Order: sequence, then C-alpha cells, then structure tokens
Amino acid sequence: MPTVDNPTEKTLAELGVESADKVALLFAEVRSRFDRQLSGPSDQTNWEVLKQSWTGRKSGILTLIGDNWLKPASSALKRAVGQELNKLKAHIESQLESQRSAIESGSESRGAVKDRIDLSLPGVIRPIGTHHLIRTVIQEIEDIFVSIGFSIVEGPEIETPYYNFEALNIPEHHPVRDDMDTFYLDLPEGAPGPLLLRTHTSPVQIHTMEKRQHPVRVIVPGKVYRRDNPDATHSFMFHQIEGLAVDTDITFCDFTGTIEYFVKQFFGESVKTRFRPSYFPFTEPSVEFDVSCIFCGGSGTAASGGTCGKCKGAGWIELFGAGMVDPAVYGFVNYDASKVSGFAFGMGMDRLAMLKYGIDDLQVFFQSDVRFLRQFP
Ligand code: PHE
Repeated sequence: MPTVDNPTEKTLAELGVESADKVALLFAEVRSRFDRQLSGPSDQTNWEVLKQSWTGRKSGILTLIGDNWLKPASSALKRAVGQELNKLKAHIESQLESQRSAIESGSESRGAVKDRIDLSLPGVIRPIGTHHLIRTVIQEIEDIFVSIGFSIVEGPEIETPYYNFEALNIPEHHPVRDDMDTFYLDLPEGAPGPLLLRTHTSPVQIHTMEKRQHPVRVIVPGKVYRRDNPDATHSFMFHQIEGLAVDTDITFCDFTGTIEYFVKQFFGESVKTRFRPSYFPFTEPSVEFDVSCIFCGGSGTAASGGTCGKCKGAGWIELFGAGMVDPAVYGFVNYDASKVSGFAFGMGMDRLAMLKYGIDDLQVFFQSDVRFLRQFP
C-alpha cells in the first residue's frame, strides 16, 4: 500500500505536485533520503543492498520514479521531471561508485596491516615437549651398546607361545611359565591361536636368529606384559632391553666383560658388579647381575648413619638376569650348537631408570603427571 514514506509509488498528480518548483523540491527530498542512507555503516553487503534498492532494474527507486512520476507526468512537467531524474540518477551513481572504491581500498589497507610482520616482537614460544625418562634411558642404553658394535632390532608385542616359550626351551608344562602370568588374547572363533602379549623381549632372540646366521650382536628394547598388580615395583606393562651376542668364539669372559662395561658406563666408573648363579631355561649357565649399591656406595650404611634403605644393608642391588645361550635354543633356529656360543641378557629398563635417577615408585612413569615429567627435561 502506498504510504507517505514512499512517495515514489504515487504519481505526481496524486502527490499534488503541479509546478516545476515542487518537482525540484520533491527530488531534493528523495536525494537527501539517499544521502542519509549512504552515510550509514558501509561495507560490501550494505553497499550491495543500497545499490539494489535505488538502482535495481525492476523495483529500484529510480525505476519507480521513471514509471510513476515521469511516464504519467503532464506535458507541462515532463521536461522538468526528466531533468531532475537525470540529475538524481547521476548523483546516485557517482556516490555509489565512490563509496564502492572507498570500501575496497579500506579493506585493502586493513589487509595490509594484518599481513605486516613486526620482526621486533618477541614471537610465540611453542613448548615442544621432551623425551619421557624411559625414552631417555632407552637411548642411553642404546648408545652404550651401539658404541661397542651392537645393533638395535625390534620385535612384535603380540606373540605365539612358540616364540615366547617353546623356542626358548620352555615347553608347555614347564613350571617357569607360572612365573610369567601371561595375558592371552581373546580371539574370534576359528582364528589360528593362541596369541599372547609377550612376557619378555627374549622371543626376539629367536626371531633374530631365524632371520640371520652368526655373528649376531643385537639389543632389543621394548614393552613387555605380565599379569602383575600395580605397586611401587610392579606393573602389567614395563620395558625391557634384551641383548644377544652369538659368534664362533664368544666366552663367558666376553659376557661378563661386556656387562661390566655397560654397567660402569651407565652408572659410573666407581660401581662394582658381581654375578650370582640363577636359572633361566634358555641360558646355561644362568646368572643374576648385581651392582654395588648406588645410594650407599656399597657400604650398606646410609649417609645418615643407619642401614641403607635401598639395598637394605646388603651393599648390592639386583640388576638383571643373563647367561650363556643354552645350546638347546640353537636347535630351534638351525644354528650349529657345536660351532657357536653366545650370551644373552634381559634388563628391566624401568628398574634401571629408577635406580639411576633415584625414583621410588614405578607407577610415576605411567601416570603422565607433568610435575614428574618436567623434572627430567
Ligand atoms: N627374559 C628374562 C626375564 O624376563 C631375562 C633374561 C633374558 C634372562 C636373557 C637371561 C637371558 O626374566
């Protein structure tokens, strides 16, 4: 419905405009309406809307003026209306055009400010994190063994009982399997199995010897799993590093010399090592290596005068199991047991890390508490 606000929808006769002066006045009003709208907030979208409402071909205000004012105008007014309309059109077009270029250059200069880089600002510091202490210890151990000719290999964490037990000379009903409360996998019906989470890194001894003939000198870092309840020294998952050296002339002296070299490199020259007889089905003889207590210097007495709490006064701390490879194992991998000999060891890396860095509780390795982790940057 035509309203007073929208005079362009009425004819001049309806508006009561009968003289050229009144025509000029009417056009002046329209023009100032345009100017008011133009001075509102201007961005690309507003500009498009404004342009459409004034110059739109179908229902823009200029079209309405042409249709409602010019076309039906009396011949006396037609000339004046035509002239005013042309002036208004020229004004609107030129104003729209200059606002368009203002908007464009405005956004360009804003963009330029955004893109400018101030090299004098301090910059954004993004903390990149550090190695977990276990990772650091793995690398320390790897570096020591690599420096004396060992290479690093890895093996699967999911194993068959053959690799985890049988080929390591642990037949099905061997009591030592009880020590390693094992996680077996739930397999879908009909799947070949059974499969288990390896209880030690020793199966990689077998994988390695199956793949290559002697000489072998490898270390195997990795995760192992046992059905242990978590406490300060137990976890269902922990880390071991296996070592295996097999050649034609490896003696027990090479074995103890290598271990002693490693322990001194890792804990420091002043520590002493000793070994005691032990038992593993895949080594013969088997030993347990001890290190002189790192906390009391092997004296068994704490700095405060009492008994050293770490070695309980013994002066020695148990480190890891090892031994000369049992000839029975060579039978599983087609090595000639009459020609080769070698040694193997399996160290708990978490335990080594705890001893070296004075950590009381194994669980802190797995809790991801940054207050702990930050102490080992
Ligand atoms: N696999 C043994 C364990 O987990 C350690 C070991 C490795 C012992 C190699 C001897 C030789 O207890």
